Amino acid sequence: MAHDPEHTQIDFADKVRGYAELEAQLTGLLQGEHDLIANLANTAALIYHNLPDLNWAGFYLWQEEAQQLVLGPFQGKSACVRIELGKGVCGTAALTRQTQLIKDVHAFPGHIACDNASNSEIVIPLLHLTQTADKALLGVLDLDSPYLARFDEVDQAGLEALCRVLLRSLV
Ligand code: SME
Repeated sequence: MAHDPEHTQIDFADKVRGYAELEAQLTGLLQGEHDLIANLANTAALIYHNLPDLNWAGFYLWQEEAQQLVLGPFQGKSACVRIELGKGVCGTAALTRQTQLIKDVHAFPGHIACDNASNSEIVIPLLHLTQTADKALLGVLDLDSPYLARFDEVDQAGLEALCRVLLRSLV
């Protein structure tokens, strides 16, 4: 059956169950499709329209030639386009290849404010599954919230699982 965003509102009262349901829906949504832009766009839309209390959800993609992150598919207000490696929360996630779970973006040195409404943020690095030795950086998934401390370790685990589903769909 075709994906219908109007009928996929997931209950996140139990966050672990909510993420399990979101992962199942994402798996179905990306089934049989390998196109990068299509799968990034649908992943951003599914997350944004199901996870409560977000004001932005989307991707920055690593551009090797420019040595920068460049804005990719997203939902939310228009955002800054280019981010240097190591700059802001996204550039830090890309440089360290570690998820950045930021309870208060105003306390993060160098945070890049695309939307003044944002108060907390989580950024997950995406590493290509195709290379085995030195895994190449595809980009980052970035979620913003107008609430302080919106994201916790349950969100981190759930979102990292979603990123694995996305990355598997691309190979
Ligand atoms: N706040 C991010 C920039 C991207 S926007 O939030 C969409 C950062 O500090 O990297």
